[in-house]
Amino acid sequence: MILSNENIKLRPLTPDDKYRLAKLANNPRIAKNLRDGFPHPYTLADAEKFIQAFAAQDPQQIFAIEYMGEYVGNIGLHKGTDVYRKSAEIGYFLGEPYWNMGIAAKAVTLICDYGFKNMDIVRIHAGIFEFNPASMRVLEKCGFKREAVRENAVFKQGKAWNEMIYVKLIEDKIVEC
Ligand SMILES: CC(C)(COP(=O)(O)OP(=O)(O)OC[C@H]1O[C@@H](n2cnc3c(N)ncnc32)[C@H](O)[C@@H]1OP(=O)(O)O)[C@@H](O)C(=O)NCCC(=O)NCCS
Repeated sequence: MILSNENIKLRPLTPDDKYRLAKLANNPRIAKNLRDGFPHPYTLADAEKFIQAFAAQDPQQIFAIEYMGEYVGNIGLHKGTDVYRKSAEIGYFLGEPYWNMGIAAKAVTLICDYGFKNMDIVRIHAGIFEFNPASMRVLEKCGFKREAVRENAVFKQGKAWNEMIYVKLIEDKIVEC
């Protein structure tokens, strides 16, 4: 499955992406905004493991983000289970040279549209650490609303931080970023 919007394309990851993934992801400024399951340092073996883990999905949930034909980051929807099976959590990162060019907003728009049409979900949510205004802005540009603040929910870098929960429902209009 390939999704595209102007110069942004979302496509499946391939084994050869591991070299660039390891290079793009090996950055403390990225790791500090993600859960500790996102390794730092980020090695070639980590990249290989990640790509293998999501190789065969139906429907596809993890995509490589391409900007003007170049692989620049990842985006995914992780579907819940049990009573949360109609919800998905969105996650994404871009290599630092590609920040602040509107790429994430376009990728989020594409994957939300895809998720609501193909994944049998009615809600997409994200938990943003309080010190990550860029990611909150991305979601606001894409029509997400702030639903809640989970105080002290995140323990990162030796300290407790608030987590902002952002949500988009299926009835919300898809916003073109
Ligand atoms: C968060 C991230 C994906 C954003 O990607 P991006 O392509 O730069 O996002 P966009 O360009 O679409 O939008 C960024 C917006 O944040 C704004 N912004 C950037 N830094 C900001 C800051 N420190 N304070 C407030 N706003 C900020 C930009 O001005 C832009 O808003 P605008 O279009 O209104 O000017 C990227 O910074 C990243 O990968 N960060 C590390 C990983 C991460 O945080 N992932 C998300 C975890 S929830």
